[in-house]
Amino acid sequence: MPIPIILDCDPGTDDALALFLAFASPELELRAITVAGGNVGLAHTLANALALTALAQAPTPVHPGADRPLLGAFRSAHDIHGANGIGGVRLPPGGPPAPGLAVDVIRRVLRESADPVTLVGIGPATNLALALMAEPALCARVAEIVLMTGAWGEGNITPAAEFNAWSDPEALAVLLRCERPVTLATLDLTAQALVTPKRLSAWRQRDGGACLRAACDIQDSVPASVRFAQRGAPLHDPCAIAWLLRPGLFTTRPCHVEVDLGPGPSRGRTVIDRWGRRGAAPNARVLETLDADAFFGVLADRLAALP
Ligand code: RIB
Ligand code: CA
Repeated sequence: MPIPIILDCDPGTDDALALFLAFASPELELRAITVAGGNVGLAHTLANALALTALAQAPTPVHPGADRPLLGAFRSAHDIHGANGIGGVRLPPGGPPAPGLAVDVIRRVLRESADPVTLVGIGPATNLALALMAEPALCARVAEIVLMTGAWGEGNITPAAEFNAWSDPEALAVLLRCERPVTLATLDLTAQALVTPKRLSAWRQRDGGACLRAACDIQDSVPASVRFAQRGAPLHDPCAIAWLLRPGLFTTRPCHVEVDLGPGPSRGRTVIDRWGRRGAAPNARVLETLDADAFFGVLADRLAALP
């Protein structure tokens, strides 16, 4: 049976490929796409989600959500994702958003689903947190929460914090405390999914349609990361989707994870207790390793299968 999911995102170059992967995966039943401001402002992330959904000819409703975190002001990462959020790539505009705000749609889908629903978060966790804060009883309807967020060590937006966790640490803290299975794809996992020039060139050689071409152009816009001596760019968000498609490609470790909510330089840092030193019960399954070649094989096949 396909896994019913809600995908919350902030497209975003890597979100774009995660959306394409989800659209091309019969293992998933995409009940709704909800959008937050994140990599760029909500106006762009929403337009990008609508355009990507239309390009893939996917029937999934797309709903606008939070344009800022639970606390504080909105801050973006347009230096990585370009001014429009997908590296300046121009896509045909999508249709209008579906009626309903993210927080209400997430609650409705959870409330009305015959089966528990998996929540997948690949941007700031604001929409997911708002839904579960507004109606805590719905946590029982959540099968699993899968997040691309956090880091064992060094961050990517500050020395201490990864961008999604940094964007709304209070929202991430809400999800870590909701006592449902939480799976984290951290920066240390996504660092193993490096898009190198060789891998990108292999995508371009595949027979595919407009989505494959768009994926290549979008990915081509992403600068190689200084964290990996310019060998390539880590492909963050599709790792969260791949966990649901091919869990056997990963190894995992149960850990207690806490978010630094302080005002200082480590705000948004995920404190992951690898060795259980604090004695707190694990509240997350952290993805540790990835079979990168197999991951990119699945991704390339799925991208090539899209319209
Ligand atoms: O740190 C990487 C994460 O932040 C990814 O989800 C990327 O899209 C940005 O949102
Ligand atoms: Ca994202």
